[in-house]
Amino acid sequence: MNIADKNQELIIELEQIAEVAGFLWQRNWAEANGGNISVNLTEKYRTETFTGFESVFTINISEDISSIDGNIFFVTGAGKRMRDIARSPLNNGLLIRVSNEKQQVEIIDGKALTPTSELPSHLIIQNFLKRNGINNGVVLHTHPTELIAFSHCDIFLDSSHLTHTLWSMIPEARVLVPKGIGIVPYALTGTDILAQATLKELEKHDVLIWEKHGVLSVGKDIMECFDIIDVLSKAAQIYLFSRSLGCEPKGLSKEQLKELAAAFKLPDTT
Ligand code: 13P
Ligand code: ZN
Repeated sequence: MNIADKNQELIIELEQIAEVAGFLWQRNWAEANGGNISVNLTEKYRTETFTGFESVFTINISEDISSIDGNIFFVTGAGKRMRDIARSPLNNGLLIRVSNEKQQVEIIDGKALTPTSELPSHLIIQNFLKRNGINNGVVLHTHPTELIAFSHCDIFLDSSHLTHTLWSMIPEARVLVPKGIGIVPYALTGTDILAQATLKELEKHDVLIWEKHGVLSVGKDIMECFDIIDVLSKAAQIYLFSRSLGCEPKGLSKEQLKELAAAFKLPDTT
């Protein structure tokens, strides 16, 4: 059955997911099946449309995720391309319900797909968001070329240095990313180790770089999650273009950053 037919709010949410998936592809951040998305749809899903689970999928994570027990999510399918998700999110993603006790996700609508290989990170982060009062959490993971390039240079593997470098490239970076950028040391894709290290960084930041892999942002709105990565990617490009012009970019001064923080009532960490 087509679940979306009976869930107007769900349709709107799926349209937004599709739009952002298209942006990721257009930005050249989503080669092949690069990137994945999860969105907590518990408040948007009308349970009267439920007709039974298609199947179950076992999860293997060390963290307790009881805050999202029984919650319903859209997750992209393993191996699915963003450009296909943009055309048809429900044919390239799944609606799932989490069962913490059974350590499994129950597939509501899956078209025989498997959830993203990064499901451990998505579920642990979604649990963290819910615990912190965000009912409609979004986790967006993508592969922005410019930002991954920074993570190959030792000097930028320092969160404070990377944050200040990118903040100083354009005022919007300071304003839209007030908590700065976290760095997660390289860990094998799809593992609980990567998920745990990510969770630690999310105590301090809403966006972080997975070293030599990609970027992950969290929030309550998928467009905002996209904007955060977009502005950081722009800042990274400005830095790289200035370098290719043969100069070390001057960047906004400490005073200019302080002035911005005061004007936008941001935490003054300059
Ligand atoms: P999936 O296709 O399993 O979502 O993997 C893509 C990816 O980017 C892994 O980090
Ligand atoms: Zn990835």
